[in-house]
Amino acid sequence: MNDIESRIEYAKIFAKGAGKVLLKRFKKRKLVIEKKGDIDLVTDADKKAEAHIIGSIFNKFPEDSILAEESGDILVKNSKYRWIIDPLDGTTNFAQKFYLFAVSIAIESERGIEAGVIYIPYFDEMYYAIKGKEAFLNNDPIKISQKEKLINSVIATGFPYSKNENNDNNLKEHNKMITKCRDIRRTGSAAIDLAYTASGIWDGYWEKKLKPWDIAAGALIVKEAGGVIKGLKGENFDYMSGNIIAGNEKIVNLMINEL
Ligand code: IPD
Ligand code: CA
Ligand code: CA
Repeated sequence: MNDIESRIEYAKIFAKGAGKVLLKRFKKRKLVIEKKGDIDLVTDADKKAEAHIIGSIFNKFPEDSILAEESGDILVKNSKYRWIIDPLDGTTNFAQKFYLFAVSIAIESERGIEAGVIYIPYFDEMYYAIKGKEAFLNNDPIKISQKEKLINSVIATGFPYSKNENNDNNLKEHNKMITKCRDIRRTGSAAIDLAYTASGIWDGYWEKKLKPWDIAAGALIVKEAGGVIKGLKGENFDYMSGNIIAGNEKIVNLMINEL
């Protein structure tokens, strides 16, 4: 096994471990919920799941750096790899006791994102991909939707936590798209939207103002499932920019025209 193959195997194990932590808290009646902003929450489960993943990486790959949502940057000098972690994507769902939430882990080198894992604990579903290879759900290869028209397409999106503070909140884009496609879905988890786009459940997805840990793993999984990933104006995708359009090439181009 090369460096990436062994890291993705461990990423799956760490994501499953974090999923176990999350499910245990999910089934408890009381969660400890704090506010990061007016509507942006963090629970004790986010922190526990992240601690599990970071502790596991320290243990197995102490030479690697980490970027994690709740802990920020943990830099190791001369590291070749960086793990980008969202321990709980879909915190609002989780806090409401709605079952759609995921763990997202990407592995980055100087060549870009090399591998990604999205684990959905409630359904025990592991989506993953290695750069240049296929994408999988559990052990089965997945493929992007083959739809060619927006009017036949179900498209997912989401809204940023700053939506109540300024007008750059995706409403304009949403209102344009809703009349052009079959329907729009909002799961509350960018990672799940990307996993579902990769496997053809959604025909496309766009969102803005995301964070690297929301999309780094999912963007690679979409690509390796045969999809295309772009910025909102059709520019090359940069996971640090937080803007993303995903789908097959035709649908992505049609979405760029509408947005
Ligand atoms: C959020 C989810 C949501 C998206 C938000 C993200 P969190 O992540 O991915 O779908 O619309 O912009 O911040 O806070 O649940 O990890
Ligand atoms: Ca997130
Ligand atoms: Ca999160």
